[in-house]
Amino acid sequence: MTGGRKKIFELSGVCFAYKEKEVLKNISLDIAEGESLGILGESGSGKTTLLSLLLRLVKARRGNISFSGQPLAEMTGKTLRNFRTRVQPVFQDPFLSLDPAQKVEGIIGEPLTSLKLTKTGAEKKERILRVLEKVGIGADAMGRRPEEFSGGQRQRIVIARALVTNPEVLIADEAVSALDIITKIEILTLLHELKEKGNFTLIFVSHDLPAVADISERIVVLDQGEIIEDAPVRRVLHSPAHPRTRLLVESGLTLGGN
Ligand SMILES: Nc1ncnc2c1ncn2[C@@H]1O[C@H](COP(=O)(O)OP(=O)(O)OP(=O)(O)O)[C@@H](O)[C@H]1O
Ligand SMILES: [Mg+2]
Repeated sequence: MTGGRKKIFELSGVCFAYKEKEVLKNISLDIAEGESLGILGESGSGKTTLLSLLLRLVKARRGNISFSGQPLAEMTGKTLRNFRTRVQPVFQDPFLSLDPAQKVEGIIGEPLTSLKLTKTGAEKKERILRVLEKVGIGADAMGRRPEEFSGGQRQRIVIARALVTNPEVLIADEAVSALDIITKIEILTLLHELKEKGNFTLIFVSHDLPAVADISERIVVLDQGEIIEDAPVRRVLHSPAHPRTRLLVESGLTLGGN
């Protein structure tokens, strides 16, 4: 399904369980460099768990995951730090994912510090300012705290923090689900523009079909920890292979959650 493009992530026979509860069953999936992949599925289908595996926040029980040909399970020290620079998360609720006690400068600068990406304070500041501009937030935001921003602005700050490392892959979990419809469209448009310019791979997870369909070239549908559909967005919308996918396309275009 990668259309001859270089694979950036390769998963084969991946299984994961929380204690005795099997959450992901035999997941095999290739993700191509520069691709926009949507992962759709109802609440509890295993989307966030799959992302946690891709981000190497947890390890697979069985099967293999590799990034740029390197097995994730074997990464340590410098290699892992390099991986964390190249693959960045954008989490769900901007209220929860931004430290309220920190100023924007500190929040966006955090990956630069922890991943040791800048040598001087001036260089760091310069990179933070550049990325704020990219997401449409003024330089005066540097000294302000998350509570002083709207939900949409906070999501822009979350995106800026992810982009500050110049990642090759952005992994977004329900990145627009907490936003009203207008703000949702604004953030999706911003992600589109950033993707065009930055040329990164985007993995966009949501239970919201219109949002996933808007941003993705290809959609994978998860159902109870299994992939039941993996096809270009048009095919998923117009001739889905699996009855569950058909159901979700026909049922007002949202699945699970709200
Ligand atoms: N830390 C955990 N400990 C035990 N079980 C968990 C844990 N996290 C998730 N689960 C279980 O794993 C399954 C998959 O959860 P996951 O969060 O991956 O689903 P999701 O598709 O992201 O759902 P949502 O749309 O609600 O975010 C669920 O049954 C959930 O209850
Ligand atoms: Mg989730």
